[in-house]
Amino acid sequence: MSDKNPYKFNGDTLVIDDESKLSNTKSVYLESYGCAMNFSDSEIVASILSKNGYNTTENMYEADLILVNTCSIREKAELTVRKRLEKFNRVKRTNSKVKVGVLGCMAERLKHKFLEEEKIVDMVVGPDAYKDLPNLLDDVQDGKAAVNVILSKDETYGDISPTRINSNGVNAFISITRGCDNMCTFCVVPFTRGRERSRDPQSIINELNDLHEQGFKEITLLGQNVDSYLWFGGGLKKDFSKASEIQQASSINFSKLLEMCALSQPKIRIRFSTSNPQDMSLDVIRVMAKYENICNYIHLPVQSGSDDVLKAMNRQHTRKEYLNLVKNIYEIIPDCSISHDMIAGFPNETEQDHNDTLSLMEQVKYSFGYMFKYSERPGTPAAKKLSDNIEEKIKSRRLSEIVDLQLKHSLFRSKEFIGKTVEVLIEKESKKSDLHWAGRNQQNTTVVFPKENYKVGEFVNVKINACTSATLVGIATGFSKNN
Ligand code: SAH
Ligand code: F3S
Repeated sequence: MSDKNPYKFNGDTLVIDDESKLSNTKSVYLESYGCAMNFSDSEIVASILSKNGYNTTENMYEADLILVNTCSIREKAELTVRKRLEKFNRVKRTNSKVKVGVLGCMAERLKHKFLEEEKIVDMVVGPDAYKDLPNLLDDVQDGKAAVNVILSKDETYGDISPTRINSNGVNAFISITRGCDNMCTFCVVPFTRGRERSRDPQSIINELNDLHEQGFKEITLLGQNVDSYLWFGGGLKKDFSKASEIQQASSINFSKLLEMCALSQPKIRIRFSTSNPQDMSLDVIRVMAKYENICNYIHLPVQSGSDDVLKAMNRQHTRKEYLNLVKNIYEIIPDCSISHDMIAGFPNETEQDHNDTLSLMEQVKYSFGYMFKYSERPGTPAAKKLSDNIEEKIKSRRLSEIVDLQLKHSLFRSKEFIGKTVEVLIEKESKKSDLHWAGRNQQNTTVVFPKENYKVGEFVNVKINACTSATLVGIATGFSKNN
């Protein structure tokens, strides 16, 4: 849905959701790649631009400005963006006035080089510099090079109310931390998104309350490493030890924040992503168990099942510690689902290391997984110190063994739901049938069922009678008590 129209239905009244949009005369076409944080950032960008004369459009040919929010996590992600720039170049040929800006991690990684490498690009803006967009746009109009890639110590965009783009009005993201201090050796994020800082909890709760008022039913708290959230008055997390005693004593960590969110809006479902195992505390798991509106699902990337590889990746836990955490999760929340990220073919990975990954997967039996071939990223510690020495053919074979095993486990986890009744939040029409709704249960598995008279945004109980590895199929038995 384009948000070009400034009017919105609020229950049965027509309201103007943002008066400034009425006088906007220009339009911006925004495309986002990569992680959820990028999609969330694009909503911040849309909000900043809407106060500066731009409404969003879904039609790139009618836009005055094209922005692409980019991802650098793997080489493939960057190649996708380069391909899109070719397309935007063709648009520029039909409309020479349109300006093209690159946002996000590739902007931060390549900086001025982007302007030289891609002639079509007019503006390069890193993830902490979006508030400077209005000035940069002025520079572009004046024919100056518009680049701002300064990383910030305290920018969290906590004061900006995001303009929800392509929203179904049901699910929304709330970002709670920015940057990452972990320095996993393969990862470009600490370089493109800077050091870790947390957002003022009050502004998070305000955004949550606001979303509730707008009718949203489920929110996801976002950060590169949410469990590391720590509010002590602002600034970089690494400076916590320099904060005053009072600030330290009254600090708010992730388990407290989660509890505050759960209590503030008991009718809203709460998810969070991503959890780095080294920072996940038992307190967080206990808070999850205590509040019904916090979904029983944890995305817990492990990357490898081998201690040697974990060490070379600079992950701060062993295989045993990870499995112990998983054991605690299943003990405290027996019906919790867990998913993973896994990298195949990290430098020096042996067959034994790879088999350790497969055996770890066998032990956990993850519900889902996001699986990748190692992709060397320029400037990362792994790129500097280790040779990307696993043959492409071997990487591919290992990846497909990991993917095949995951499919087996996903099917195993799906089958556990057969005969059970699960609570589903209806999100959209099923892709395969316009007679069915699709939504997710607490455990994040997609559920499809006949529409009957139910509507998007309603919580319903669905009795599961069939499944694939990715989808549960069932029949609604009525509204859930949360509705
Ligand atoms: N904490 C972050 C992790 C971001 S990167 C989060 O929000 O998910 C997401 C995943 O991409 C990582 O967990 C890792 O599995 C994968 N990844 C990161 N760098 C990679 C690289 N150089 N090659 C292959 N996969 C990588
Ligand atoms: Fe990257 Fe590791 Fe942080 S994967 S985002 S450096 S937790």
